[in-house]
Order: sequence, then structure tokens, then C-alpha cells
Amino acid sequence: MGTGTPAGSGGGEDPVALNRAMWDERVPIHVGSDFYDVDGFRAGGPVLDPRVVEAVGPVEGLDLVHLQCHFGLDTLDWARRGARVTGLDFSPAAVGAATALAAEIGVEARFVTADVRDAVAALGATYDVVYTGLGALLWLPEIAPWADVVMALLRPGGLLHVTEFHPVEQIMRDDALAPMLRYREGEPLVWEEGGSYADRSAVTVHNRSTEWVHPVGAVVSALLERGLVIERFAEWEDTHYPRWPFLERDGRYWRFPEGAPSIPLMYSLTGRRPG
Ligand SMILES: C[S@@+](CC[C@H](N)C(=O)[O-])C[C@H]1O[C@@H](n2cnc3c(N)ncnc32)[C@H](O)[C@@H]1O
Repeated sequence: MGTGTPAGSGGGEDPVALNRAMWDERVPIHVGSDFYDVDGFRAGGPVLDPRVVEAVGPVEGLDLVHLQCHFGLDTLDWARRGARVTGLDFSPAAVGAATALAAEIGVEARFVTADVRDAVAALGATYDVVYTGLGALLWLPEIAPWADVVMALLRPGGLLHVTEFHPVEQIMRDDALAPMLRYREGEPLVWEEGGSYADRSAVTVHNRSTEWVHPVGAVVSALLERGLVIERFAEWEDTHYPRWPFLERDGRYWRFPEGAPSIPLMYSLTGRRPG
């Protein structure tokens, strides 16, 4: 979900530790931002994309885990829809904000601080629904360990739902529909960028981060190889934020102007672990 100017190289520091520092610093900025509209959520407004809600189906009474839950908005929306929810994120600031928000709105939820690659041990449980996405997978250096985690967290018959920003969108430049790097598994993209997509003017000091490209084919193959039965897959020509100034807003979505050439901006995958 990055926009800005990619930096040349990652330097010597652990890129995942740098990412965590970057996310920790952005949590309070996001909680107070118009982009996330936490007041609207406090007032009962939904945050989940209706297409996601439709794809996952009724969650009343189900155990649902939200991987890379940020400060818990989607997680708590699932709880309001009747799921018993757990959110996991590696950012202590995110987990702290999510826990505080759940208490404030009186919704029961468990939030756990852990790297998603360690989620199986950190959670010590299995789930009816594993939900993730919207700027989650691109923070993982490799897709195979993530797929292992997802399959281990799913109960037999359990459902995985991923809605993600499309990796084809990720590899494009900010000023043109032109690729700036290879569309291949694990391709790194290092950013040196202040502020946040939720508040461009925010003053920040932890500005170096690394994303990785996970082509749709790599995600689908990793899940198929581990036995997930993919029930639905879609690519969408709209997205949740103004990725380029030439996208047009239509309610909660941004789209290419009618008649203009386009690329896929999001994808959505629903699959089930065989019972
Ligand atoms: C763009 S946010 C996800 C946003 C979320 N879908 C939402 O809309 O609220 C990405 C999240 O991934 C988390 N994250 C990044 N790398 C992680 C990792 N290796 N393990 C766990 N969480 C991670 C970050 O802390 C951040 O909260």
C-alpha cells in the first residue's frame, strides 16, 4: 500500500524490525486520522467492505482470527457481527490500541502481539475463519511460511478469506501506470518515506520500511499446494484509497475513469481447508 519514492537499498538492519518500528509509530496517527474514522466506528458504523462480508458469510458464533489486525477495526467489526474474535499483530502499539478500543466500545476480543510467522505458537488455538489482507501480505518476506501458518490455524472445514491490494498495483510507479520492479515472488521494495497513507503531513522518524511482492499466482499456488480448496477468486478494478490522482471516487471505492485503460487494484480469495 506504499506510495512515495522507493529507496535504493535496505541497509544492514533487520527489515522486519524496521517495519515494526515504522508501524508502532504510525498507530496513534492512524487512530486519530480521518482515513480510519474511529469516531464513526465508535458510533456503530461498519468498516468491512460489503463484498468481504458477503464472501465470508454469517460469522455468528464462529471463532475468527484476524492476522495483521493493525489496531483492530476490522477485527471488532467481525465481533459486532457475532464472531468470537482474536486479532494478531506484531506491533505492541497496535495491540494496545486495539485492546483499548475493544474495552471502550464494550466488545469482547482477544488481541495478541506476535509476528504472523510465529502465530501458531503465539495463539495456541485453531479457528473457523482466518481473515487477513488490505495491506498485510506485502509486509511478509516470503509467502510459503505464511501459507503454512494459515493452514495450521484453520480447523478442518474452516474458511480462509484474503482481500488484498493487488501486487500488480504495488509494482507500479506513483506517477504513471508503468512497472518499476519485477513481478516475482519475494521481490523487495524499500521505502524511505515520512508520514503515512492515512495522514501525509504526519511528522515521523521511523521512515524506512520494506515491502515484498507476492504475485497472485504465488499466493494461490502456496495455498493449493497445502490443500486449501479455493472456492472463490476475484480481481477488482477498484480500491479503498486514491492510489493515483487520476482515480475517481465512487462512495468508498476509487476507480479508473470510464473508458480509460485499467489494471487490477485488489483481489479477493476465499478457500476452505477440507473437513
Ligand atoms: C496496513 S496494516 C493492515 C491494515 C488492516 N488490514 C486494517 O485495515 O486495519 C498492516 C499491519 O500489518 C502488521 N504487520 C506487518 N508485518 C507483520 C508481521 N510480520 N507480523 C505481524 N504483523 C505484521 C503491521 O503492524 C500493521 O498493523
